[in-house]
Amino acid sequence: MSKAIIVSEYGSSEVLSHQERDIREPSANEIRIRNTAIGVNYHDVYVRSGLYKTLTLPGIPGCEASGIVEKIGDNVQGFAIGERVTFCTREYGAYATHINISHDKVIKIPYFLSDELVATNFLRAMTVEMLMNRITLVDSSKTILVTAASGGVGRLLCQWATAMDVKVIGSVGSQEKIEDTKLNGCIETFVSSDEKFSNKVLDVTNGKGVDIVFDSVGNDTFESSLSSLAHCGYLINFGQSSGPVQPVLMSTLAEKSLSISRPILFHYFGNRKNYENMAASVFKAFEDEIIKVSEFTPFDLKNASNAHDTLESRKGGGSIYLVP
Ligand SMILES: NC(=O)c1ccc[n+]([C@@H]2O[C@H](COP(=O)([O-])OP(=O)(O)OC[C@H]3O[C@@H](n4cnc5c(N)ncnc54)[C@H](OP(=O)(O)O)[C@@H]3O)[C@@H](O)[C@H]2O)c1
Repeated sequence: MSKAIIVSEYGSSEVLSHQERDIREPSANEIRIRNTAIGVNYHDVYVRSGLYKTLTLPGIPGCEASGIVEKIGDNVQGFAIGERVTFCTREYGAYATHINISHDKVIKIPYFLSDELVATNFLRAMTVEMLMNRITLVDSSKTILVTAASGGVGRLLCQWATAMDVKVIGSVGSQEKIEDTKLNGCIETFVSSDEKFSNKVLDVTNGKGVDIVFDSVGNDTFESSLSSLAHCGYLINFGQSSGPVQPVLMSTLAEKSLSISRPILFHYFGNRKNYENMAASVFKAFEDEIIKVSEFTPFDLKNASNAHDTLESRKGGGSIYLVP
């Protein structure tokens, strides 16, 4: 018998229901993992609320967890019972004590990383790897703007970019988060709701604007992100924590020859080799302390609704995980 969080209808965090369920044997290509720490991401909030209709209801949400290999399907090679592993999946099912998952999603956790760190920050760090290496050239000649710079993805992105000698400007939702962004490498940080926000960004870039904006806030920051860009600048919108972005006219981009992209991590995994390469790059970045995380906030699996409430109250910062 296993326990899981089931979503039967879209809605507020109260629809996350803790239930017992039978779990079948793993198929020939699957591994059964006993989860030890389950990551909580904004994606899970979109799935729960119905903004993304990508989970078949009733269903178990959750895209990532750390755990122990408990059973191995007949066709699976290269894994052993008892090994510490993690996974990222868009097929969901992580909010549970156990999961049967295709072996090609499973990655071994290196000895130097804890289950908590991987559960809270593997998917986020993979996102940063994608943003830094796979969309447009980010190098030391560039000045970038990172919105939600003290959020979970934001802080890793600031750290990674700073380590590459990129000049990083941050934006946050409130004054008290500014100090944290300085610790993560931002040379300047502004509150995103400040009506002079874009002017301040222009001031600190000698009137030029930034080369790239990494915007995960979406609706509330999109316009100021566009205004903060230099000529031929690149807006990478990878999230919508404040709501979806409204349609954009091509003529708006023509004003400064701007480019926009809207990347989704799962599309960048491609084949198993690529997924492994991205994971290796992330683990190396943790080992070399290019990226660092130190705070973890556990919630009992049965209290997943509290975990979602905390995330939605802007207090996540890549720390929240569920304990099965
Ligand atoms: N494209 C992809 O493949 C991909 C992958 C991973 C994550 N994401 C997206 O990236 C975004 C950030 O993820 P994360 O893990 O860094 O989340 P997080 O740790 O919870 O941080 C989100 C931050 O967004 C800001 N925010 C602004 N308006 C908000 C609102 N109305 N409600 C809540 N937060 C708001 C808050 O910072 P302030 O208080 O400073 O404004 C908050 O701390 C999410 O939208 C997520 O879905 C996308």
